[in-house]
Amino acid sequence: MSLYGHLQERGPHEKPVTVTTLSRMREEAEKIACITAYDASFATLVDVAGADLVLVGDSLGMVIQGHDTTVPVTINDMVYHTRCVSRGLRRALLVADMPFASYALPELAFRNAARLMQEGGAQMVKLEGGMLQVRTVEFLSGRDIPVCAHIGLTPQSVHKLGGYKVQGRDDAAAKRMIQDARALEDAGADIVLLECVPSELGAAVREEVGVPVIGIGAGPDVDGQILVLYDIIGLTSGRRPRFVRDYSVETRNPLEAVKSYVSSVKDGSYPAAEHCFS
Ligand code: KIV
Repeated sequence: MSLYGHLQERGPHEKPVTVTTLSRMREEAEKIACITAYDASFATLVDVAGADLVLVGDSLGMVIQGHDTTVPVTINDMVYHTRCVSRGLRRALLVADMPFASYALPELAFRNAARLMQEGGAQMVKLEGGMLQVRTVEFLSGRDIPVCAHIGLTPQSVHKLGGYKVQGRDDAAAKRMIQDARALEDAGADIVLLECVPSELGAAVREEVGVPVIGIGAGPDVDGQILVLYDIIGLTSGRRPRFVRDYSVETRNPLEAVKSYVSSVKDGSYPAAEHCFS
């Protein structure tokens, strides 16, 4: 096999998704369907269902470990689950979350991101925060670590924010978020992930940056959508956020539910008005 053969052959029928694929999808207005996974079996399922990007989210702290927040998740937890997911994927791009306190300084972020890539098999890392993360994003990106910059509602800041709330509702906050997105792109972020903002702001951020913008509760006018797997297959317990759509209601099994999610993202029927914030 040639030097680059292994990567090219990961997908039996389709080429694996790369950062270049995501940029092309944005240019060609093909919606990017993203989903979380935490183990090899579900990774295989979501890959087969056609997800373009799979995130090993620190939401595993809640849906796998049973915590109330993502704060207790450690870098060792993330490396372990990323390694499990990487074994199940053939086509989708694998992104791993950097957990709370694992990227407080650029050098620390580099060490932990390198672990997620070398030990976990991640192809990109995600970190939360706006302007304050610019130096870290620059540091990682300058060392060939692809970065997804997560702004808007950043769940690791829940104790500072005083709860999970829609962000960017007033003009000043919306302006700051647009500036954050621009600065993160300039620092080298490959993707922006935007959580829980009014749809109008989602569209404005998408207009202002050149990299793909993935939304979760950010309205329909972004380049792609992401949801937590367990929400899609109807396993959410407790209060369900407005942006969640439970696809298990209309399908008979988890594979059909995830396929239905992917096709609704692709054809633009998800998110509908009832999943959006104003
Ligand atoms: O941790 C996670 O699953 C996430 C998504 C909700 C975007 O950050």
